[in-house]
Amino acid sequence: MRQVHVALGSRSYDILVSRWLLPELGSHCRRLGFGRRCALLTDSRVGPLHGRVALRSLRQAGFDPVLVSVPAGERAKSIRHLADCYDQLAVHRLERKSFLVALGGGVVGDLAGFVAASYLRGIPFVQVPTTLVAQVDSSVGGKTGVNLAAGKNLVGAFWQPRLVLCDLETLKTLPDREYRSGLAEVIKYGIICDPTLFRRIEQRMPAILQMDSLELAWVVARCCTIKAEIVSQDETESGLRAILNFGHTVGHALEAITRYGRYLHGEAIAIGQMIAARISQQLLGLPPADVERMERLFKSANLPVTIQFSKDQLQRLCAAMKLDKKVAGGQIQFVLAERLGRVRFGQSVPWSLLITILNAPSGLRDAPRCRRVAPTCLR
Ligand SMILES: NC(=O)c1ccc[n+]([C@@H]2O[C@H](COP(=O)([O-])OP(=O)(O)OC[C@H]3O[C@@H](n4cnc5c(N)ncnc54)[C@H](O)[C@@H]3O)[C@@H](O)[C@H]2O)c1
Ligand SMILES: [Zn+2]
Repeated sequence: MRQVHVALGSRSYDILVSRWLLPELGSHCRRLGFGRRCALLTDSRVGPLHGRVALRSLRQAGFDPVLVSVPAGERAKSIRHLADCYDQLAVHRLERKSFLVALGGGVVGDLAGFVAASYLRGIPFVQVPTTLVAQVDSSVGGKTGVNLAAGKNLVGAFWQPRLVLCDLETLKTLPDREYRSGLAEVIKYGIICDPTLFRRIEQRMPAILQMDSLELAWVVARCCTIKAEIVSQDETESGLRAILNFGHTVGHALEAITRYGRYLHGEAIAIGQMIAARISQQLLGLPPADVERMERLFKSANLPVTIQFSKDQLQRLCAAMKLDKKVAGGQIQFVLAERLGRVRFGQSVPWSLLITILNAPSGLRDAPRCRRVAPTCLR
């Protein structure tokens, strides 16, 4: 078993990575000194697959769990389902010493985390992430919340879990497309701060795609270690944590203009990362060989790397980016790479350069070589 410590003073916790952790859920929770009453929050797809094992484990460890289920998919991250969850916890008399277990992907983790952060002004919670995105990203770092009609994640709180159990065996029931989508976040960690991780994924992609347990344990634990280090330095995203958004400026806008129906998040950020890479090549001198390696790696995970925008799509994409939080003083802010493993956040990118790159779908080959932009844009 691999163990990653998230160092946050009194809010510190461990992430355990291994196969077969779910049957041990109860005994791990017992060590944390929680009260008997607890709720297992899951969704309509994960519940039937993994809920029984989780409930049995909690009962065997002496807990008294109640099952709370929400519909599978992003729509569960809503005020409506949040209110339903509060009602269920209140009806089943969960108290201050009770705890919540989030069993599912990032949607369940974000929702359950916010329920835990706010019910009775905060009760402890444990994350049992069952998608690759959730294991390497959303379950670590304490960002919780729900969506509003006006946009994603507009209501939320920072609320750290007491424990994260990444059971690699649960990934076996995940649809292949969801799994590959998670690899876009894994590759992102290599690009933003770990060339060794990047190289290892390049070398071992076939084993990773086959979910080889030794390889996957190493990769998931490495990603969690990177995120843990970043979060320990910047828990509430006042600076460094922003580097985790590499590829997300365009990725989020792409998801929004396609109404979250065409691309999975990982697919959108694979395209977003390639666009950020091409901008980086122009503005920070990211070597073309690095850009090519990134493109090859995303492709080897069967992830999209380009998109041909119509004029109308391009306009809507820019409008979506303008609405995003990342515009400062009229200029759009990106995380850009200097080289593989080294990025800078808060980089202003001129709209003209962004549009040139967006208009050249295969980027490297088609983009006219832009004049280097004045250094003031980079400050
Ligand atoms: N809090 C953070 O820091 C953070 C970071 C990244 C993403 N997120 C959030 O995470 C969400 C996306 O997470 P996601 O990609 O895990 O999506 P998700 O939770 O919707 O899961 C994807 C689908 O897979 C199903 N599923 C989950 N685990 C399964 C399993 N083991 N077997 C079979 N099916 C399974 C789910 O029911 C769902 O239908 C978004 O809402 C995003 O905003 C949060
Ligand atoms: Zn992401």
